Amino acid sequence: MSTALPIAPDTPWLAPLAGYSDLPFRLLCREYGCSVAVTEMISAKGLIYNSPGTEELLQTCPQDTPLVVQLFGAEESFLLRSMELLQHRGFKYFDLNCGCSVRKVVKTGSGAALLKDPAALTRLARTLSAQAGPGCMGFKIRLGWDQQHTVYMPLAQDLEQAGAAWITLHPRWATQGFTGMADWSHLEHLKHAVQIPVIASGDLFTATDALRCIERTGVDSIMFARGALSDPSIFARYHALYRNETPPLPSFSAVCALVRRLEFLYTTHAMPRAGLLKMRTLVPRLLKGWPGVKTIRRESVYCRSWAEMLALLERHPETSNPDEV
Ligand SMILES: Cc1cc2nc3c(=O)[nH]c(=O)nc-3n(C[C@H](O)[C@H](O)[C@H](O)COP(=O)(O)O)c2cc1C
Repeated sequence: MSTALPIAPDTPWLAPLAGYSDLPFRLLCREYGCSVAVTEMISAKGLIYNSPGTEELLQTCPQDTPLVVQLFGAEESFLLRSMELLQHRGFKYFDLNCGCSVRKVVKTGSGAALLKDPAALTRLARTLSAQAGPGCMGFKIRLGWDQQHTVYMPLAQDLEQAGAAWITLHPRWATQGFTGMADWSHLEHLKHAVQIPVIASGDLFTATDALRCIERTGVDSIMFARGALSDPSIFARYHALYRNETPPLPSFSAVCALVRRLEFLYTTHAMPRAGLLKMRTLVPRLLKGWPGVKTIRRESVYCRSWAEMLALLERHPETSNPDEV
């Protein structure tokens, strides 16, 4: 099974990030060299019942390609109907979330709860892959529910037989959440066990991590998640390192430019509500680790608009000097 999606070491992906990987954030990452972006997880049921907020999650534009829509759900009928609906609207690539371990999701049998019954998941995968068409359906999995139930192999082989076009593995068990470390050795095992492309996710905090992961495991590509949240320019750094070039040094002024660009993208794409929430949570993430930004982080909580946030950044000229870094 091959896919038209670029899945190679020089085509880094942006991971699905609930609350973050919306249209403006995806566009920003694409500007830095993200090759494929995945939407935030979208509830199949929410889509069918037109739940508030779902439309915003599906907002896209011609520059936002290739795009993979990540769905979550446990019931085949809802997943199928939502894929049909999305296909009618022009969406082509899909991913099923089989890795989210958040209580709200797993208590509905969705996300990582799907790993508890690999046979049922494989049946579901067969139907969804057929609906998506050749090369259009991927599955994002973890190692299993817990260590005693490590199922990623042979599950991934069964998913391949069922028509999966690619597998993304976050090598932690669901019960781990984000604790401990992602064990990349499982990625290497998986890569040897299936013919379809394998994408790595897990503890890729820097461009160097990602390159090291590919070198160690032989996976086809990588997906930046928390690494992109703290620095969307991680994609450019990754490309530079991949070409054996030295990536530019990080600077506070570059972070400020990035915030201004985000403001522009949120305004252009008329997402004021999401933009405001993002601004409060994303900006402190972008500023993480910078000297002298404690005040900004504290005060950013009170900002009621991007304009206030930008003014706050500009009031701190001492930190806007890259030499300070
Ligand atoms: C804020 C946040 C939101 C996430 N949302 C999703 C999601 O919607 N779907 C999904 O499959 N994984 C989601 N993940 C998991 C990431 O896609 C990724 O697999 C995980 O963070 C491991 O990669 P990292 O250690 O490089 O961050 C989320 C992670 C974070 C931190």
